[in-house]
Amino acid sequence: MKTLVSASILSADFGHLSDELLRAEESGCDMIHFDVMDGHFVPNISYGVPVLKSIRKYSGLPFDVHLMISDPNAYIEPFAKAGADGITFHLEATANPVGIIDKIHSLGLKAGVSVKPKTDVSLLYPLVGIMDMALIMTVEPGFDGQGFIYETLDKIKSLREYADSKSTDLDIEVDGGISDKTAHLVREAGANVLVSGSYLFRAADMASNCKLLKD
Ligand code: DX5
Ligand code: ZN
Repeated sequence: MKTLVSASILSADFGHLSDELLRAEESGCDMIHFDVMDGHFVPNISYGVPVLKSIRKYSGLPFDVHLMISDPNAYIEPFAKAGADGITFHLEATANPVGIIDKIHSLGLKAGVSVKPKTDVSLLYPLVGIMDMALIMTVEPGFDGQGFIYETLDKIKSLREYADSKSTDLDIEVDGGISDKTAHLVREAGANVLVSGSYLFRAADMASNCKLLKD
């Protein structure tokens, strides 16, 4: 599977967001990762629907929205209308993941489901074949620039083996602490979509760092 890089603008310079979006696109990134935090599901607040709506026109890349919020169901439609191409919500935040996936699909978007580092990956197995993407958090969600949690590698491996056993081409995304030191490990474990924030946006040469994540 081809490796795709999703640039997390949580690490961008918010005073120059349109330039930062252009820099990610020109550097060979494949998607823009848009982290939404509500100060409740995670101990941080980032940005939401009005910001997505406002910046959407400054990038030709797909927007990969990561909802770290307690009530994802209520915000699927607003984020779809604001220009999301895919929406990922947390399994820990809902008792009805299939209902939310159906809602995302009914709006014509790709549906992703994420688990925090301590959540058992086998809870995602019933969704293989229904969701388009699984997001394995490789740090505790909430902040950029944290250290990669190596114990998550086994989760990626197990999920890829399970998806292969069902002959499902599942996208497996990883998020948190992804750099040239960890990219090859997550790729070998079976991840094909790599989110990266600080490693890309704080780089002097984003294009070369983006390339290092892919090969
Ligand atoms: C963390 C966010 C990540 C974050 C990644 O909760 O979901 O997308 O921006 O940042 P880095 O790549 O710096 O760990
Ligand atoms: Zn994220």
